[in-house]
Amino acid sequence: MRRGWMGGACAAALMLALPALAPPALAAPPAGQPWMDPKLDPDRRADLVLAKLSLDQQVALLHGVMPLFLGAKRPPNVQISAGYMPGIPELGIPDLTESDASLGVANAGRTNDDATPLPSGLALAATWDPKTAYAGGAMIGKEARQKGFNTLLAGGVNLARDPRNGRNFEYLGEDPLLAGTLDGAAIAGIQSNHIVSTLKHFALNDQETGRMVLDARIDEAAFRESDLLAFEIALEQGQPGSVMCAYNRVGGTYACENPFLLTEVLRRDWRWPGWVMSDWGAVHSVGAAVAGLDQQSGQQLDKQVFFDAPLKAAVASGQIPAARVREMAHRYLRSLFATGAVDDPVVAGGLDTAADGLVAGQEEEQAIVLLKNNDFTLPLKPAVHRIVVIGGHADLGVLSGGGSSQVVPLGSKVYPKPKIAPQWGIGPVYHPSAPYAAIKARAGAAEISFYDGSDPAAAAALARIADEVVVFATQWSSEGMDIAMKLDGDQDVLIDAVTRANPKTVVVLETGGPVAMPWRDQAGAILEAWYPGARGGEAIAKVLFGEVDPQGRLPITFPASEAQLARPVLPGSDQNAVETLTPTFDIKPFTVTYPEGSDVGYRAFAPSGPKAGQTPLYPFGYGLSYTVFRYSGLKVTGGRTLTASFMVTNVSNVAGTDTPQLYLTSGPRRTQQRLIGWSKVALQPGEAQRVTVTAPARMLANWDVAAHGWRLDAGAYKVAVGPDAATAALQGSAIVAAATIRP
Ligand code: BGC
Repeated sequence: MRRGWMGGACAAALMLALPALAPPALAAPPAGQPWMDPKLDPDRRADLVLAKLSLDQQVALLHGVMPLFLGAKRPPNVQISAGYMPGIPELGIPDLTESDASLGVANAGRTNDDATPLPSGLALAATWDPKTAYAGGAMIGKEARQKGFNTLLAGGVNLARDPRNGRNFEYLGEDPLLAGTLDGAAIAGIQSNHIVSTLKHFALNDQETGRMVLDARIDEAAFRESDLLAFEIALEQGQPGSVMCAYNRVGGTYACENPFLLTEVLRRDWRWPGWVMSDWGAVHSVGAAVAGLDQQSGQQLDKQVFFDAPLKAAVASGQIPAARVREMAHRYLRSLFATGAVDDPVVAGGLDTAADGLVAGQEEEQAIVLLKNNDFTLPLKPAVHRIVVIGGHADLGVLSGGGSSQVVPLGSKVYPKPKIAPQWGIGPVYHPSAPYAAIKARAGAAEISFYDGSDPAAAAALARIADEVVVFATQWSSEGMDIAMKLDGDQDVLIDAVTRANPKTVVVLETGGPVAMPWRDQAGAILEAWYPGARGGEAIAKVLFGEVDPQGRLPITFPASEAQLARPVLPGSDQNAVETLTPTFDIKPFTVTYPEGSDVGYRAFAPSGPKAGQTPLYPFGYGLSYTVFRYSGLKVTGGRTLTASFMVTNVSNVAGTDTPQLYLTSGPRRTQQRLIGWSKVALQPGEAQRVTVTAPARMLANWDVAAHGWRLDAGAYKVAVGPDAATAALQGSAIVAAATIRP
């Protein structure tokens, strides 16, 4: 596989130097099985196996069941999980044992499990830290091995085009460079365990409403510069063994039988050698094999097991060449060899929940975003007299998102499903890490109490006589549905009453994505904690009391209202917006157009974007600290790409961590805003550091459809350095040379 376009200094400046996949221990290959020699190239090894396989045996590798339900036939030793494909034990080819894993080994939603849930994907993206992404991936990959899975259905990187997408919590926000970089690091972390990770859902599965039937339409150049770019970067950085194609149509054709996506982009342009697996219930014809699909997953969810008898019949009739079937099996086998899944078979046992929980906790500590802090409301002072904690089930735990990614560890509290929820899956799950207990442990001699918030007037009465008030608020979201951009139920009424009663109230949000905050002006402080994961309560308390400097930065714009969205009315929401058990649920096909093109999120609010002049509630990249940082001394140099160097100074008397961001604001041909790099710096009081950020050349370029490449026009490129997308603290420019970068 091509090793990525960032190369040299660019990679060093921004990207994590990902540890190389450690080769499994070498052993002499068994007699007669030369493909078991790990010294050989994965493609060669796949060919050696294929030379032994009949067409029937090849086809048997290309489809499999969802052992979870619908009467799946599975051998007694195969656990109930998302997916299973039998291997060929006599040839050393393992079974493929798949678990969902956007945020932890979901293990088919098994309750009282011992797997460790990470904070949500948006939380990870809020860390802006590839090392943290790698550590989380490495942890869940290790747990996968320990639970007997060699494939994780992880790596979701669909762009947050709509804050109401019910799966945004599984993804990494609205910017292709940030999302792709962190997703690639997470995938590399997973695969460092010699197991396979996927990259999903390819592509434009950017809303849940009508995901099985909708047809997403976008201009090709805009597609390449936005959603596809996120996948491309993740693919280059993470080198996943597999890509999962999406449910929806793209440009009129289902994603899993779409030659543009699966053959032109993935194979011809990106030269990716792995295998494409379908999403569960996303295959509509045997012709999908011709378009580039290699494997049919969850076969009982489709109308037919297209990749079994119909595939063989298509070969017999000449409709599909036998060589194509061989290529499909080749791609599958070569990824099993390339990741180490063949040489280092999984062995169940040995989970260390306590150690793994620390990884989740450290991620959340970096992910929490301080949105507002009036008059030093935070950090909390333990020396006060009376603290009251209200709402959000903070006495029980922290909220998590629903659907196939759901992890339900021992001690979780599962609530009944709300009225609007998919017919499958379970209701809101609270992970057993109670913020209230963690706050109490730090409250010193203060009197502290918890109230569930069911009566706003009673909550206000408690808040009025307290020195410090922390109110928790939640928004549940799930795969299979989209959500309104607001807190669940009447929580806005509760917060309104409490913040009016006590202006020092701290509001802690546990949400799937952006929400409106009608009470914002009255609140003393606001923290966005996302879905906080296995040790979330502890992480929130550490930030509240100042043991950890809040250092999360928004990976998604918080619009002021749904009226500011590209599509104020969610397409398809006039029909049944929630998914039923049958995959082809009862909703008529419809089209979703993306006239905003690549101007997703913050790019739309830029002076060059369609929402110019409008102000969101909080811009992309935003987040306060308990520290104050100043930027100065910008130097910009050009050439083949652009490098910015500037000073960051901590001008306060506490240590803290900042994430200065570098944005392109215009090029010689186009005015457009693009995040082109960032850095993360930890500074002691008074400390100053020079930071250098080099933009990957492709981030400055535009996709040229006619030239079929990334076109860099010669001329002046203007950039801004700032603490978020809406604040240009420093500005400069440099001349960059013309180039066409081939995909
Ligand atoms: C989801 C995938 C998931 C698969 C298997 C599908 O409904 O879209 O993300 O991996 O189910 O559970």
